[in-house]
Amino acid sequence: MGVLALAGCSQGGLEPAGEEAGRIFTLTWTLTLVGGIVSAVVLVLLVWGALRKPKGKAEDARAEHVEDGRLEKRLVIGGGIVLPAIILLGFFGFNLTEIKAQPQSGEFTLEVVGHQYWWEVLYRDLEGVEPFETANQIHVPVGTEVKTVLRSADVIHSFWVPQLFGKMDNMPGHTNQFTFIAEEPGVYPGYCAEFCGLQHAWMKFEIVVMEPDDFDQWVAQQAAPAPDPQTVLEQRGQEVFMQNACVGCHAIRGVADQAELGPDLTHLASRNDLGAGVIELTEASLAAWTVNAQAIKPGVNMPPQELSEQDLDAVVAYLMSLE
Ligand code: CUA
Repeated sequence: MGVLALAGCSQGGLEPAGEEAGRIFTLTWTLTLVGGIVSAVVLVLLVWGALRKPKGKAEDARAEHVEDGRLEKRLVIGGGIVLPAIILLGFFGFNLTEIKAQPQSGEFTLEVVGHQYWWEVLYRDLEGVEPFETANQIHVPVGTEVKTVLRSADVIHSFWVPQLFGKMDNMPGHTNQFTFIAEEPGVYPGYCAEFCGLQHAWMKFEIVVMEPDDFDQWVAQQAAPAPDPQTVLEQRGQEVFMQNACVGCHAIRGVADQAELGPDLTHLASRNDLGAGVIELTEASLAAWTVNAQAIKPGVNMPPQELSEQDLDAVVAYLMSLE
């Protein structure tokens, strides 16, 4: 079983791609294997004891019992107290060293705020750029200690990327933090691991692990304010955005900086998905989402928008220009 599961892991989405996930992987398998061996020994002894026939008559058996009393006591103390104590203390020590190996600082800080039902992602202390914000798609450089600070805007969520690190809760009114290092460039899916409401299952996100140069390029692009509208339609779209409810919830840096309720849309078109992974971002899906997000993701906090067809076309064209 263990071997089969291991084989499955090395092909599937559980192969660790970061130090923290690697430690969890080692701990899990060590505990499972040692626990499995102990269970197997206990089971064999149990079956052996149940099937063992007493020698001779009942009297002989009683006599043997008395004679062997010392051995049985030793078995109980040795197998029931000493051996478990050694194994458990060994595990305890192993756990402690693994926990101690956890990096504590970080070369920069990633702030992740859980919302019903999406992730707000803030980069506030990167050198040489203004603080900026994005949503659901997190980029980090490979081989770098990333200090991750978790908060929540509403209820408890839990931030989890199985291939990079274990679960940690986003708590309202409280800050949790940990540090991780991603060791392999790639895209790693993440999930909310704490039931938080109707769309808990659609709080997906991803961590894109990049080579340092690519990351710097991404940062420069994300930290820049929103690009100006290039066509009449996009210009009209920006007006629609400013004159309707959109601007009350969504910020577009350089255009409308204030709103904090919904995801920052400054570089919306650079992201792959809408609604925390619920649908791929295309002009059509963005239009459908804008008109009635409830139809795509029931229970989401974005109310339906009543826009004329022209205004909808314009605002979609504008938002899709925000690379
Ligand atoms: Cu957020 Cu479950």
